[in-house]
Amino acid sequence: MSDDAMEKLVSLCKRKGFIFQSSEIYGGLNGCWDYGPLGVELLRNIKEVWWKAMTYREDVEGIDASILMNQRVWEASGHVDSFTDPMVEDRKTNERFRLDQLLEENGIDVAGLSAEEMGTLLRERDIKSPKGNELSDPRQFNLMFKTFVGPLEDDSARVFLRPETAQGIFVNYLNVQAATRQKLPFGIAQIGKAFRNEINTKNFLFRTREFEQMEMQYFVAPGTQDEWFDYWRAERWKWFAQIGLPERKLSWHEHQGDELAHYARAAFDVQYEFPFGPGEIEGIHNRGDYDLSQHEAFAGKQLKYFDEEQRTKFVPYVVETSIGASRTLMACLVQAYHEEEVKGETRVVMRFHPRIAPIKAAVLPLVKRDGMPAIARQIAEDLRPYMRVLYDEGGAIGRRYRRMDEVGTPFCLTVDSDTLEDQTVTVRARDTMAQERVPIAELHAHLESRIDAWQIP
Ligand code: GAP
Repeated sequence: MSDDAMEKLVSLCKRKGFIFQSSEIYGGLNGCWDYGPLGVELLRNIKEVWWKAMTYREDVEGIDASILMNQRVWEASGHVDSFTDPMVEDRKTNERFRLDQLLEENGIDVAGLSAEEMGTLLRERDIKSPKGNELSDPRQFNLMFKTFVGPLEDDSARVFLRPETAQGIFVNYLNVQAATRQKLPFGIAQIGKAFRNEINTKNFLFRTREFEQMEMQYFVAPGTQDEWFDYWRAERWKWFAQIGLPERKLSWHEHQGDELAHYARAAFDVQYEFPFGPGEIEGIHNRGDYDLSQHEAFAGKQLKYFDEEQRTKFVPYVVETSIGASRTLMACLVQAYHEEEVKGETRVVMRFHPRIAPIKAAVLPLVKRDGMPAIARQIAEDLRPYMRVLYDEGGAIGRRYRRMDEVGTPFCLTVDSDTLEDQTVTVRARDTMAQERVPIAELHAHLESRIDAWQIP
């Protein structure tokens, strides 16, 4: 996808009600976006596919922990000390930049370099700010948003907006285990908002300050973590086809040296080929016993698992799968955007996997007479308990098809004069524009089977 096509996609997202700038009438708020009527549906569908894949199985339970947690959680997890990015400041304008991004923009590969090594390179290469000014020495900037609970704004009341959902899982791990009587290995999954005060936000939904994560912590017996790490890498890789992201656009990136987060012993990212290059959408991490051991030490509470068969107690190891819902949604938008020439006109079509398409079918009376609107409305009503359906009677049928192509509706169901005779409708497919006649009584089963059978182009 070219930069030009990316601009068109961002504009389509606003025009059609996928994504709006947050508080736009006040000039917006950097790094924050709102999901419009179609965006929220697309996001919910992606989350639903993930939730089913991850929790509709015997060994994974779901939770929904609160965003605000006791501040000690973040001291124990290492985020207070280590959840930082190296930052430099333009000495004239006071603009701030993430050091690694600035070096990369200057053609320097920073993979595996420590903050100190990056600082040395900055000086050696005499790198200036994008406005050509001197830069400050690098310093570490903590990415957590801070606020206070209750009326007193002192240190004891300080809390952080969670920068990852994972900690809500760690602190609840024994509660869940006791409530569900799960035995190792088992996992806990959660979907929820996370917040990071990113130094530089960029690339639309890719790097934002408020976003949603879908995370799963899988608790395993020490010594088995490598095998489970491989298992979850393979599972997660396969999952992307379910939301229409093809393997050819995905790649692995293994974290090296200083790239590894403070909690990780090993980490692999799944990257999607965005217009600006490969970008991480999911991380699979071997977190060892880091988090649970830290919480044991800081909370002074035992978080050991009791193995009834072996009669032993130990702190489990953890394999984490962590995917950004908002970033994944952006990948799905990029993947879906398609332009083609049809009869001398440009057809814009969002080729979403029908499973995640915000509207599954549009029901269209060919004309507004002869009882066609009433039949079409009835068809829409009958399908609504199963899927999101839109009724549209406004304008020429060709225009109505195009409107549905642009928002990625996989099927248009047209009621015409034949319908009055034989109780069938035309089902028009978004991708091929091919049409076939289907009895009204079979529509629901017909659409469901085509949604499941859909193949990535
Ligand atoms: N619990 C582990 C963890 O949070 P991470 O690699 O920092 O790991 C996981 O984040 C995922 O969250 C990323 O792969 C990405 O999809 C998403 N993510 C992280 N920071 C983000 C941001 N600023 N904007 C949007 N998504 C973000």
